[in-house]
Amino acid sequence: MSNKWWENRIVYQIYPRSFADSNSDGIGDLRGIISKIDYLKELGVGAVWLNPIYDSPNDDNGYDIRDYGKIMKEFGTMEDFDEMVKLLHKNNIKLVMDLVVNHTSDENYWFKMSSLNMKNRYTDFYIWRDKPNNWASFFVPSAWTYSETRKQWYLHLFSAKQPDLNWKNVDVRNEIYAMINRWLDNGVDGFRMDVINCIAKADGLPDGKGDGNVFSPEYFVMQPKMHDYLREMRQTCFVGRDCMCVGETPMTTKENAPTLVNDGQELDMIFQFDLVEMRDGIDKWHNIPFDLNKFRTILSTWEHDMKWNSLFLSNHDQIRAVSRFGNTSTDEFRIRSAKMIGTAVHLLKGTSYIYQGEELGMANVPFPNMEAIRDIESRNYYKNADDKDLAFKTIVKNSRDNARTPMQWSVDRNAGFSQAEPWIMVNPDYKKYNVEAERQEKDSVLNYYKKLISLKTKNEVIIYGDFKLLMETNKSIFAYERTLGDKTIRVFCNMTNKPVKIKIEPYKELLLTNVDKPKIARFEAYESRVVSV
Ligand code: NOJ
Repeated sequence: MSNKWWENRIVYQIYPRSFADSNSDGIGDLRGIISKIDYLKELGVGAVWLNPIYDSPNDDNGYDIRDYGKIMKEFGTMEDFDEMVKLLHKNNIKLVMDLVVNHTSDENYWFKMSSLNMKNRYTDFYIWRDKPNNWASFFVPSAWTYSETRKQWYLHLFSAKQPDLNWKNVDVRNEIYAMINRWLDNGVDGFRMDVINCIAKADGLPDGKGDGNVFSPEYFVMQPKMHDYLREMRQTCFVGRDCMCVGETPMTTKENAPTLVNDGQELDMIFQFDLVEMRDGIDKWHNIPFDLNKFRTILSTWEHDMKWNSLFLSNHDQIRAVSRFGNTSTDEFRIRSAKMIGTAVHLLKGTSYIYQGEELGMANVPFPNMEAIRDIESRNYYKNADDKDLAFKTIVKNSRDNARTPMQWSVDRNAGFSQAEPWIMVNPDYKKYNVEAERQEKDSVLNYYKKLISLKTKNEVIIYGDFKLLMETNKSIFAYERTLGDKTIRVFCNMTNKPVKIKIEPYKELLLTNVDKPKIARFEAYESRVVSV
């Protein structure tokens, strides 16, 4: 047992734009976060991760950084930031910031200088070619855009306003490390590193196999050089500091992920997407029915292969957890299944990340039309689709905007998020699902999550215990046990909408359940039970 701070704390993910608006401009901000520190205490979380709050033109909601040293105007000032850090720390809450260093904004000074048709310090800060290769980007058909000033093409794995940095250039790396160190000196306790496994590109940028624009992750995901850069970054910035590094690493596999984490020289843990995608390689716009066997295999494999995991059910890029893994067809099922999926995942071994609103059972949003959609990825998908009706229906079900609507605080106007019209619509279900109402309601998802958080953070067996899958072939129940010394706890979750008859072994104590009176030989639909034996 090493007792690193992130091992026994739960991280609460805040999407600042949609969390709390203190100055009535319809956009969440840092003073809004400050005003909710009491709520974070009440929940029992020990850290927050903020999506990017740096100066940005917001082509991709802050993932396009114009100035790494400044706070985004809508979010506040450096003084607000300092006060937020001070108050979080005073309340024993750590601060994890987003680190976006695969790309910057095209409005970043470095890129502006690099695009000039003349030699300067920034000429090689980005990836320039006379002729583009055939790579497709994550967001738009081609990963290349022509610069009229420089008369060359630049690479962008995301939007044209997000040019990729050239990590081969030691000056780029040194600038980034200096920037990281400045934020650490400002009180930051950790970083969530955006698409960090994409920072190195294959030498020569080979064409992808296929016709037209080809999405070619084999040439930019998990390249050997990436390991060198991450090791160098750790040495230059993190050694000797009590700082947590979690990598956002799309397309990592259970075979290559351990190389990022297990020897402790690169990252402390990663976000991998096997669970939230469960798609067998089919893209994010297609819905695949929930499959308990896949769910079980994914979770148990990662528990076995990784020294430490990140546990999450949703984030700002995913649809709402209860809409994906639970059942929102009735309030009864919604409330019970939201509690059950939280139990299934957050009691595994690893650091739990709770995405804002998950603790209320917030669900997907009935967006009425494309005008209500803000997300660049969804808007591009619509633009490029032939059948617009189908594209819109697909977007309503799968868009990242489902997770980005305002946090639901109360029954007040705009769910208590803002006095002004919010930048994105409020989910109309806020009258029932909101913090104030759920505080009063004994059996709410919120009150259950408080117990779940307390259970997870206060029990060594749940923090450090070994994991073992139980009932491996059961068609309804996902079950496992965690053991440390002579202590064992067991978790049982009925993941279906039907009761099942099943007898579990006698237990010492019932630690947590989402039903009124659990029966000995029967599990209700979506029932979860945590017991010690
Ligand atoms: C992953 C972030 O989570 C997502 O929101 C963003 O669009 C891309 N990286 C690009 O930065």
